[in-house]
Amino acid sequence: MNKRKTQIVVMMVLGIFLTLTALAAAANYKPDGDERKGKYLYRKNCLSCHDGSKAKELYANTKTQAQWKSSFKRHERFECKKQWEKRSKQDLIDIFTYLYKHAYDSPQPAKCG
Ligand code: HEC
Repeated sequence: MNKRKTQIVVMMVLGIFLTLTALAAAANYKPDGDERKGKYLYRKNCLSCHDGSKAKELYANTKTQAQWKSSFKRHERFECKKQWEKRSKQDLIDIFTYLYKHAYDSPQPAKCG
C-alpha cells in the first residue's frame, strides 16, 4: 500500500469508529442524571397523559429497570415521540434516572413520584 491509500484507510476507519461511538451514546441511557429534576420533569411533561387519562398509567414502578432501559432506547416508536423530542437530551437523562432508580425491581420502587 502506498502512503495515500494508507491515509484513506485510516480516515475511513476513524470515520466508522466515530459514527459508532455517536450511535452508542445516543442509544444508551445511564442513570447518572439528576433524579430530583427527573421526577419534576416527569410529572410536568409526561404524567399529564400517563396518569391514565390520555395514555396508559405509567409510574416508575410500572416497569423494571431493564424495561425502562429498553423503553428509552426505542422511544422513537412510541405514539408520544413528539413529546420526547420537545425535551432536551439532558432532560431525558434526568427523567430516565428518576424512573430507573425507582423502578419495580429497584431498592425504592415508587408510584406517583
Ligand atoms: C400527549 C400525551 C402524552 C404525553 C405528554 C406523553 N405520552 Fe407517552 N404515550 C402516550 C400515548 C397515547 C402512548 C401510547 C398508548 C399508551 O401507552 O397508552 C404513549 C406511550 C408511551 C410509552 C410506551 C408504553 C409502554 O407501556 O411502554 C412510554 C414508555 C411513554 N409513553 C413514556 C412517556 C414519557 C417518558 C413521557 C414524557 C417525556 C411521555 N410518555 C409523554 C401519550 C403521551
